[in-house]
Amino acid sequence: MGVEILGVGKYIPPRVLTNSDLEKILDTSDEWIITRTGIKERHIAEEWEKASDLALKACEEAIENSKLNKKDIEAVIVATSTPDMIFPSTACFLADKLGLNKPMAFDLSAACSGFIYGLTIGSSFLKSGQFKNVLVVGTEVFSQILDWSDRSTAVIFGDGAGAVVLSLTDSDSDILSAEMKSDGSHWGSLNCPVGEKLRMRGRETFKLAIKSMETASKKALEKANLTLDDIKLIIPHQANIRIINAIAERLNVPEEKVFSNIHKYGNTSAASIPIALYDVIKEGKINKGDNILLTAFGGGLTWGSIVLRY
Ligand code: UT7
Repeated sequence: MGVEILGVGKYIPPRVLTNSDLEKILDTSDEWIITRTGIKERHIAEEWEKASDLALKACEEAIENSKLNKKDIEAVIVATSTPDMIFPSTACFLADKLGLNKPMAFDLSAACSGFIYGLTIGSSFLKSGQFKNVLVVGTEVFSQILDWSDRSTAVIFGDGAGAVVLSLTDSDSDILSAEMKSDGSHWGSLNCPVGEKLRMRGRETFKLAIKSMETASKKALEKANLTLDDIKLIIPHQANIRIINAIAERLNVPEEKVFSNIHKYGNTSAASIPIALYDVIKEGKINKGDNILLTAFGGGLTWGSIVLRY
């Protein structure tokens, strides 16, 4: 038996915020944002929309896509840094809005690495025999914690949600390895105190992100007993196109082997990898049986990589 992604879903709020919109409210330029980050536009949730509202739409699609019934979902893991409330968890709100049958439900706080932490935990639940079907979601409304007068962070982040239904099946699919790490001593690089706005020391975070994702990816490959030649596609956290290209260079793979959709969505934190995974699948870039490498990095600091056979 292996762990299989049975269904994927995403939801991107329709309101678009372009670089030229940002030029009107900040001392910035379309040219600076594109060359320094690769971002052309991002989507912004309505003020009343919460992380669970975005997650709801992504999860409805993922469950429908999986062909399972809602009652089959036994656990809900929501990776988010922008929860609806401190408590109850966003996962409890989400499970109720979805009409699930009283699943185990909890939030996971690991910033931009949240989704891959969630996949690791979800997969462990399945392999231990605890559950058969788990919903893992990354959902963020970073627009609601940004300081819109800070040009060094306001131009980077966007809102969105992505979800997968993870199930134990007798297919060849599996999560082959995971390398998950953290280092709280660097908390000052990127954080958001309760009731305050996000703060980031960009240049410092940039360097740590490249090194951490490179190291974790090599370790995850080693654990899976695979090399990069066995990997069809790398899906990195969408933080900055220069970080993504630097990872390709450090791993010595062509840039085409490293997926990017940052130009459309910006950095959606915990939602970035499931949104990218959704796009990769819908664009036919991977097929069942292909090995892929996921890698993420975020506040905490947290980081990690997963090798999975889709
Ligand atoms: O998702 C979790 C992890 N997050 C990340 O990995 C993000 C990592 N960091 C980054 O992506 C980049 O560091 C940023 C995009 C945040 C910044 O790019 P940078 O090339 O590192 O720029 P910088 O912070 O070194 O700033 C260079 C210059 C500064 O001006 P001076 O001091 O050289 O005159 C900034 O004030 O660019 C200025 N600047 C801007 N100019 C126009 C900063 N933000 C902007 C802006 N528009 N939006």
